[in-house]
Amino acid sequence: MIVKNPKFEISAVSPKQYPTSGLAEIVLAGKSNVGKSSFINTLINRKSLARTSSEPGKTRQINFYDIDSKFYFVDLPGYGYSKMSKMEQEKVGKFIEEYLFNRKNISLILLLIDIRHKPSENDILMYEYIKNTGLPFIIIATKADKIAVTKVDSTVLQLKEYLGVTNDDVQILPFSAERKIYSEDIWSVIEKTLNI
Ligand code: GTP
Ligand code: MG
Repeated sequence: MIVKNPKFEISAVSPKQYPTSGLAEIVLAGKSNVGKSSFINTLINRKSLARTSSEPGKTRQINFYDIDSKFYFVDLPGYGYSKMSKMEQEKVGKFIEEYLFNRKNISLILLLIDIRHKPSENDILMYEYIKNTGLPFIIIATKADKIAVTKVDSTVLQLKEYLGVTNDDVQILPFSAERKIYSEDIWSVIEKTLNI
């Protein structure tokens, strides 16, 4: 899809602030600094609509981006940011849970995991949590530009093993915001999910 008019809609900290338009929501989940906001910018081909930073913990609220009035990208705050106080981390965890478990508009969850690292305990918990919601999801292995192209496929398979993915239906796709490759594959999944 070629995005023409992406717009930031709202930063929400509580359900009563979520948009009420009823559009489908495609959610970005993943630990702090994994590349959620960069992912959105790459897919919509904008430099900085979603705020990114080399400093982890940039996104602290739930940010909704209206994509051509067809759906929302929902940028969740990153979990597992060690410099955040325990209280702040708990608050962020509560936002995420409150959203994922109760929101009826979710069409697809994208769980982002850094291709270079073994999934953290939090990544595995998140994977289990998302599985339990029963909602459609895929896993995206980010920062694929950081490893050799020839290693991408085997690393993705390894990631599957680390996460304990047993179901062949669970898709894991590589991604790079830096090289802007692999976007097509992800757009195909989104378009198929939304029927657009
Ligand atoms: P929080 O908002 O803290 O949860 O982080 P985030 O998941 O939104 O990460 P963000 O998109 O802000 O990216 C964090 C850092 O990783 C930035 O310095 C990005 O430039 C970098 N980054 C993101 N995606 C890629 C990628 O595909 N390749 C490389 N090499 N760097 C990336
Ligand atoms: Mg972010």
